[in-house]
Amino acid sequence: MWLDDFVNKELEQIKRNGLYRKRIILDNDVIDFSSNDYLGLKDNPETKEKIKTHLEKLSLGSGASTLISGYYQIQEQLEHEISKLKQTESSLVVGSGYIANTGLIPALSDEDTMIFSDEYNHASIIDGIRLSKAKKEIYKHIDMQDLEDKLKKYKNVYKKIIITDGVFSMEGDIAPLKEINFLAKKYGAVLIIDDAHGTGVMGEGRGTLYHFGLEPEDHIIQMGTLSKAVGSYGAFISATKNVIDYLVNKMRTAIFTTGLSPLQNFVSLEHIKLIQKNKSRIKKLIENTELLYQKMKENGIPVNYFGTPILTVIIGDEWKTLKIRDKLLKERLFVQGIRPPTVPKGSSRLRITVSTKHTENDINLLLNKLKKVLDEEKNG
Ligand SMILES: Cc1ncc(COP(=O)(O)O)c(C=O)c1O
Repeated sequence: MWLDDFVNKELEQIKRNGLYRKRIILDNDVIDFSSNDYLGLKDNPETKEKIKTHLEKLSLGSGASTLISGYYQIQEQLEHEISKLKQTESSLVVGSGYIANTGLIPALSDEDTMIFSDEYNHASIIDGIRLSKAKKEIYKHIDMQDLEDKLKKYKNVYKKIIITDGVFSMEGDIAPLKEINFLAKKYGAVLIIDDAHGTGVMGEGRGTLYHFGLEPEDHIIQMGTLSKAVGSYGAFISATKNVIDYLVNKMRTAIFTTGLSPLQNFVSLEHIKLIQKNKSRIKKLIENTELLYQKMKENGIPVNYFGTPILTVIIGDEWKTLKIRDKLLKERLFVQGIRPPTVPKGSSRLRITVSTKHTENDINLLLNKLKKVLDEEKNG
């Protein structure tokens, strides 16, 4: 039987290249600097209490796709609340960010569409483009000259889409949306922003577009996740009423899949409301991030910081990155080591994510242990 041969050969190669991955269950006493739970909402005690009082009325599953009978009032309320946060006419909630990107991009494209995509865009965007019938041009990371050169080359193509992460998940840097939107308008392109890591964090929680003082426009489609700063599960697409109406009718990954559980949507709704009402969590997140960055800088740790809660230390070598991660884990600190294919070869890195819930002690501990481990590695 070929299955075992195939799988074993592949696994051997993955291991030989230092790219073997396994899932880790963190002990409760480990301080987590790897989660995207930026606002510390995933274990929010107030939400847990609220669930108890509403549980009687909340279905645990949705039972069908939203176009059959899996659409509930709670999802309608959630979509309404997201539109308020994003200041858009309408929103559509779907199963996950991966589902959103792999459905949205094919729904908007055909053989005559040209997509311009940043080289560091998330894998779900890459897969969405692959699933679509569109042609693609990959522009150099946040390189506006390269983007414009490519747009110019295809200026006669009618259907153009520029797609970019708002905050890049493995770099932590921010797409220059003012410039990108300028080019989108100049060349008549639709602009899709994947704001998985910007929602709840940037622009007072509204997202990366608002961070730049931009307003939603008819040619802009914002996507975001409910699983990161929102501390729940699912994703959304926010745009004009017309675009959302079209997606409800045409987006295969929203149509041919069961709707999210009302219980999950309840959590998302509570947290989207909270993000709008209470800005203190975002303020604390910024303070924590600044504190860690300053201390790393003062201690000579070569950190990359772009004003988002995703900080990176480039190690380069895959094995060394893993060794540092494992040493930190022994010290009860978890920082994930990111290796190819998630990042380009030779740029394996520690990806440190800061959360509102980290204390000054947590930050000091990370700093001291990180410095110790990096010094050990440097000195052989
Ligand atoms: C930029 C970006 N887009 C999309 C996704 C996918 O979102 P989800 O985890 O909800 O599938 C992620 C998640 O890791 C992401 O970082």
